[in-house]
Amino acid sequence: MNELVIAIDGPSGAGKSTVGHAVAERLGLEYLDTGAMYRGVTFAALRRGLDPHDPEIAAVAEHVALEIGNGCICVDGVEATAEIRGREVTAAVSAVAANSGVRAEMVRRQRAWVVEHGGGVVEGRDIGSIVFPDAALKLYITASPRVRAERRVADIGGDIDDVEASIIERDRKDSSRADSPLVEASGAITVDTTGLTIDEVVDQILDLLGRAGAS
Ligand code: DC
Repeated sequence: MNELVIAIDGPSGAGKSTVGHAVAERLGLEYLDTGAMYRGVTFAALRRGLDPHDPEIAAVAEHVALEIGNGCICVDGVEATAEIRGREVTAAVSAVAANSGVRAEMVRRQRAWVVEHGGGVVEGRDIGSIVFPDAALKLYITASPRVRAERRVADIGGDIDDVEASIIERDRKDSSRADSPLVEASGAITVDTTGLTIDEVVDQILDLLGRAGAS
């Protein structure tokens, strides 16, 4: 692979997306949120009345039109930016993301995206381990569940204890599934964002990239 890829993995709410966007902007690279792709497939499946555990969702993944970029996502031509972050999709997405057929199709699309865009900052759960194991820089961004819950509550509200419990439950599902569980990829550098500002994390990453000889 010749394209410059920065792979960012880690649990939800750790700051991957904010940090990933900032790193992409500083480097003049495009940014891909692969979680939005799994959410888009989940939205499409729910609209078709499918149960999130239905194996047929692999066929939905193959055919669904996903347009992701510029802060919005369209699923089969329907603007679904808010819906994919809503409660219904959030509750169902872990089951959809555990479907091996769905994963195979998403990985194929992610690799094609990088070729089409000449590299990029790609964020998810399996990017450094499965999708781009040869990425120039592999990062595992994390923070304590409490801090992640506090950030989410500041963003979208809710009860802190409930939000923390749901974060811990989603971590458990994402880390224990059979296919491509959330892991620290071999060669990944762990960045714990607890107690750090976004700018401090971004500077740390650009420094790591410089030392890896890739910037
Ligand atoms: O990052 P997020 O919370 O939007 O991700 C939504 C779900 O998709 C989450 O349960 C983990 C899953 N996911 C995945 O399995 N693999 C990826 N590369 C990205 C997300």
